[in-house]
Amino acid sequence: MFIVLEGLDGCGKTSQAKDIRQWLIQKGYDVHLTGEPSNNKIGLFLRELLTGVREVQPPTLALLFTADRYWHLDEEIKPALDEGKIVLMERYVNSTIAYQAAQGVEAEWIRELNKNILKPDLTLFLDIKPEKAVKRADSGEIFENREFQDKVYEQYMKLDDMLRIDANKTQMDVLYAIKNAIGDRLQR
Ligand code: TYD
Repeated sequence: MFIVLEGLDGCGKTSQAKDIRQWLIQKGYDVHLTGEPSNNKIGLFLRELLTGVREVQPPTLALLFTADRYWHLDEEIKPALDEGKIVLMERYVNSTIAYQAAQGVEAEWIRELNKNILKPDLTLFLDIKPEKAVKRADSGEIFENREFQDKVYEQYMKLDDMLRIDANKTQMDVLYAIKNAIGDRLQR
C-alpha cells in the first residue's frame, strides 16, 4: 500500500508521518517512511536549491522534482512495495503541480511529465490555513512565505484526487482523522 501525505509547508505532515509510522508498526505492518525531495543525488541537489543559493527557473525545478521522483520510485519505493511494505511518503506528484503551478508553470505540462508514474493508493491532504502554516514553517526554505503559500493553497484546491483532513485542529485530532482514513483502506 502506497500512502502519500500532502500539504503546505508547516502543515504538520512530518510529525504526523512519524506518529502514523509508529501506529502502523504497532499494528504489525512493515513500514517504509520516505519523502520528496528524496535522499538521492537529485533530491540533495534540490535541497541545496531550496535554500536559495542560486536562482532556478520554475520549469527546471518541475523537471528536477520529477526526475527525483522517477529515480526514488525505481530505487526505493517500488522495491519496498514489492517486499510487501507500506510506503508512507511525504509529498509526491501533487506537490509539483501545486508548488510549480504556483510559480507559473503550466499544470498540464507537469501532469504530462508525471502521467505514467505509479499512482498512490491513498493521498491525504493536510488542509491547514496558509496563515497558520506559515507561522509553523521554520526551515528557512525559499517557498516559506505567506504570499507564495496562498498561491500554493489555491493550486491544491484545484486537485480532486486527495482526501482532505482538517489540519487546523490539534495534533491528536488530526492524527485520529488520518488513522481513520488509513484504517478504512487497510480493511478493504
Ligand atoms: P518539505 O516537505 O518542506 O521538506 P522538509 O519538510 O523535509 O523540509 O519540502 C521541501 C520544499 O520543496 C517545500 O517548500 C515544497 C517544495 N516542493 C516543490 O516545490 N515541488 C515538489 O515537487 C516537491 C516534492 C516539493
